[in-house]
Amino acid sequence: MTRGKFITLEGGEGAGKSTQATRLAERLRALGHEVVQTREPGGSPGAEALRELLVRGEAGRWSPVAEALLMYAARSDHLERVIRPALERGAWVVCDRFSDSSRAYQGAGGGVPSSVIESIDQAVVGLDQPDLTLIFDLPVEIGLERAHVRGGDARFESKGREFHERLRAGYLEIARAAPDRCVVLDAVATPEQVAERAWKAVEDRLLSADSVDRRLG
Ligand SMILES: Nc1ncnc2c1ncn2[C@@H]1O[C@H](COP(=O)(O)OP(=O)(O)O)[C@@H](O)[C@H]1O
Ligand SMILES: [Mg+2]
Repeated sequence: MTRGKFITLEGGEGAGKSTQATRLAERLRALGHEVVQTREPGGSPGAEALRELLVRGEAGRWSPVAEALLMYAARSDHLERVIRPALERGAWVVCDRFSDSSRAYQGAGGGVPSSVIESIDQAVVGLDQPDLTLIFDLPVEIGLERAHVRGGDARFESKGREFHERLRAGYLEIARAAPDRCVVLDAVATPEQVAERAWKAVEDRLLSADSVDRRLG
């Protein structure tokens, strides 16, 4: 059985990740793939229990390091129980947030040294890195306004403007450092336009014969 592909969607609050994850999963299913659409923090019963601790309450409820460890505890459970089994049976996994959220939120935003995050990531995620990461980029104020209108758990939204600016810059730096894995998409466009660009990235990077040749070198 060919291993499935692992796609992650990343970006700040209100960037359109959840909207686009659903569209992308539907489009991949239409090609005949089994698709597991999932999210972080969460995605398995244990990780969803940890999510409750992470997305509710005061902005400063956890230190950045404690937050990173809770995120990776949840990620470990999610990987073991949902993501790895899905990829091994050939399903495609579309995951709304993954390790880059830890790099951006707890790292760039919270000040946890990248060496700390990378060593935890190696231990927990190891070789099961995403095949493709779509990074939805938009000005902080537009994203926060969209997230505010949408409503929901707002612990991270409440962290302040400077935090969200560091987060945005952090994501762009992640993309710059890993151009083979990451594609930055302008998330200010309409949902339809963003979906088309996201799909083009999937076609170019994962579906076309060229992309296979390129990866095999
Ligand atoms: N391209 C877009 N343009 C305008 N509004 C959008 C766009 N994409 C999503 N939205 C709306 O913005 C809000 C946040 O989108 P959502 O997909 O929940 O973002 P995220 O998961 O990144 O926080 C939702 O109300 C959604 O309907
Ligand atoms: Mg979302």
